[in-house]
Amino acid sequence: MVKVTLTVNNVKYELDVPPLERLIDTLRYRLGFTSVKEGCGRGECGSCIVLVNGNPVHSCLALTSRLDGAEITTLEGLAPAGKVHAIQVAFIEARGVQCGFCTPGFIMVTKALLDRVSDPDDKTIREWHSSVLCRCGSYPYYSEAVKRAAKYLKEGKIYFDEKEVREKYHLKVLAR
Ligand code: FES
Ligand code: FES
Repeated sequence: MVKVTLTVNNVKYELDVPPLERLIDTLRYRLGFTSVKEGCGRGECGSCIVLVNGNPVHSCLALTSRLDGAEITTLEGLAPAGKVHAIQVAFIEARGVQCGFCTPGFIMVTKALLDRVSDPDDKTIREWHSSVLCRCGSYPYYSEAVKRAAKYLKEGKIYFDEKEVREKYHLKVLAR
């Protein structure tokens, strides 16, 4: 076993992990961050992307034992409790979500993109989004979502009230 300290969504965890444990398994099954999805398990679909020290990383290809001291952000850590991040609101408003399986990966890639480029053009969005596959074909909606999110962030609207968003878009809590 290998001792590692990870900060996930601003909370520090001290863990003993097998040397070959994948980051996706640590996040999803050991720590319960179920937004991290496994599609292909070999770096092709991007559903498992999280931010490691601010960079998008395929968590199915990363070994937790190599990440001692890393800062990790999953979808659950994008906004404080009771709030929803502007990127999530933009994805809802652009009707980007169909089955939703790929959505956490797209949102985390979008976060990394907008942290670096405040007003990305279509080509840049396509390049960044090329690391994630959507089987439902939501790509055009996702480009629209990025532009909406960029506009919100430029206006200083980073977080929205979760209750208001749920009421406005008739979103039910199915599980916590
Ligand atoms: S599950 Fe990691 S890229 Fe598909
Ligand atoms: S919305 Fe279904 S895979 Fe993308």
